[in-house]
Order: sequence, then C-alpha cells, then structure tokens
Amino acid sequence: MPGSLLVVIAYILLAVFLVVFVYRTYSIAKLPVHLRWELAPIPHEKGKSHYGGSYFEEFEWWTKPREKSLVNEATYMFQEILFLKSLWEHNRKLWWFSFPFHFGMYVLIAAGGLLVIGTVLSLLGVTDSALAGLGVVVGPVAAVGFVLGGIGAIGLLFKRMTDARLKAFTTPMGLFNLVLLLAVFATGIYSFLALDGFADNVSEFVGAVFTANTALATSGVLATHLVLALVFMAYLPFTQMMHFMAKYFTYHQVRWNDTPLQVGGKMEQEVQKLLQQPMTWSAPHINADGKKNWVDIATAEVGK
Ligand code: HEM
Repeated sequence: MPGSLLVVIAYILLAVFLVVFVYRTYSIAKLPVHLRWELAPIPHEKGKSHYGGSYFEEFEWWTKPREKSLVNEATYMFQEILFLKSLWEHNRKLWWFSFPFHFGMYVLIAAGGLLVIGTVLSLLGVTDSALAGLGVVVGPVAAVGFVLGGIGAIGLLFKRMTDARLKAFTTPMGLFNLVLLLAVFATGIYSFLALDGFADNVSEFVGAVFTANTALATSGVLATHLVLALVFMAYLPFTQMMHFMAKYFTYHQVRWNDTPLQVGGKMEQEVQKLLQQPMTWSAPHINADGKKNWVDIATAEVGK
C-alpha cells in the first residue's frame, strides 16, 4: 500500500474516532440525573465503606461535614480497571479470559503511548540514550500485549460459542468485536515476528502522520496491521466498547452518587424540571395521557 494512502486513511479514521468519542462522551455526561440507587458499599465513604456504611448513620448528618476518602475510591478503581475485580468475584469463569484480553489491551495502549512520546521527542530533536532504549523496550512489550489479548479473545470467543448460559447474551456484534480485535492482535504479533525492528517501523508511521510525510514506505504486513488497528479505533466509539469511558459515569454518577438533595440546590432544580415532563406510559391504572406530568400522576388518588 502506498505510504500516502496509509497516512490519509490514518487521518480519516483518527478523526472519526475523535469526533464520535467526544460526541458520545458529551452525550452521556449530559444525560439527566439518574434515579438514586444508594447501593452500599460506596468506596469514598471515609471509615465506613469497608462495612457498607454511610454518612446517614451519623446523628443529624446534615449538620456535619461529609468526609470522603479519595484513596479508597482510587484503590477500588485501580483494582476494578486493572484486574476486573468484580468479574473475578462474580463470574470467575469469564475472568480467566477477560483479564488477559483487557490486560493485553492496556499493555498495548501503554506501548502505543510510549511509542508516540518517543517519536514526538525524536521529531523535536531530543535524542538521548533513554529514547533509544525506549525503542528496544516497546517492541517486546507490544508483543506481550498482542499475545495476552489474542489468548483472551480466542478464549472469550470459545466461551461465548459454547457456554449455553452465555449464548443467551451473545449478539453477532459482540462476536464481531472479538473477531476484529483478534485480527488486530494476530496481525500485530505476525508483524512483530516478521519485521526487523517492529517498533521502529511503527514509529516511522507515527512520524509520517505527525509530519504528513507521504513518502513513507511500509511493508504490506505492517500496513494490514495498522489499517486494522485504525479501523478498530474508528469503530470503537459506535459500540458497547465505549464502556471503558461510560463506566466512569456508571460508577460516579449512578452507583456512587450519594450527594444529598438539598432544597434550592442544583440537583433539586434538575429533578423539578424532570418531574414536569409528561408521561405516556400505556398502563391504564396510572392514567398517563401524555398531558399529565410525573407530579400529577404521583400525587393523583388511586383509581381516579
Ligand atoms: C481499552 C478499552 C476497552 C475495550 C476495547 C474493551 C472491550 C471489551 C469487550 C470487547 C468486551 C466483551 C468481551 C466478551 O465478549 O466477553 C468487554 C467486556 C467487559 N469489559 Fe471491557 N474493554 C475496555 C476497557 C474496560 C475497562 C477499563 C473495564 C473496567 C473498568 C472493562 C470491564 C469489562 C467487563 C467487566 C466486561 C464484561 C466481562 C466480559 O464480557 O468479558 N473494560 N470489554
């Protein structure tokens, strides 16, 4: 594939990723306040999260300052993101494959980040031995990521196609996501083994993207891997794989949001606005005619 085409493809697919990712993140962040769950334990409850307690236990809690522990919260997030702790506790059979699958991707993201930093520094003329060492390390690190990701993806595919309980929750799109990722990992490890200096070759490509260098010469095997990785990136924000970002909101705005609703506060104003929305549920016993709002229906006498 001509280098100029590869660079243009990279611009288009990276732009799609960036625009859709920002748009979807913004849309999720703007969603209305969630129905309160108040599910314990909430990790940021200082001194209480380990037994599932909350500030509501305090006598006249509303008169006291709320104490939060960012360390507890960060520890929980670290274990959940890096080790998928909840999956380990609740679905261990899936964890054995999901963990290497995710960990492999994290390793690749880290390797990719290092590679981009190294390339930018060398474009800026910073050349020292540490930077040269970086190039040597990134290749093998990426190879570990490809292997872990590949093992995980094959295992997850196998489980999803053979486990009767999982089959019920498995969609064609879910399988396609795994196959696409497997293709990225497989072409990645193949490129690593087939090429002399995998990281240097990828670094040349990254440099060409930064400098719009269309004279880039890339081997067919690496071009295939790079196009697949870029297609995956552009496709990701359209799918449920946005969960890596959506989880922030699921935890912080839904599961762990225990901020009390105060009269005259921002949340009260938001809730008041939502309660004015008309209801169109078809259930006859609540008489939702599309004109009555939530307050009308919640305060109406039953049967009227
Ligand atoms: C790098 C970004 C990520 C991508 C591309 C990604 C991709 C995926 C995919 C494709 C699946 C479905 C696997 C299957 O078929 O079973 C999945 C499941 C899952 N992911 Fe992620 N994920 C990412 C980040 C995260 C993060 C940061 C977390 C934790 C905070 C996480 C937690 C989970 C959990 C709990 C499941 C369900 C278990 C499973 O189905 O394997 N993921 N992810």
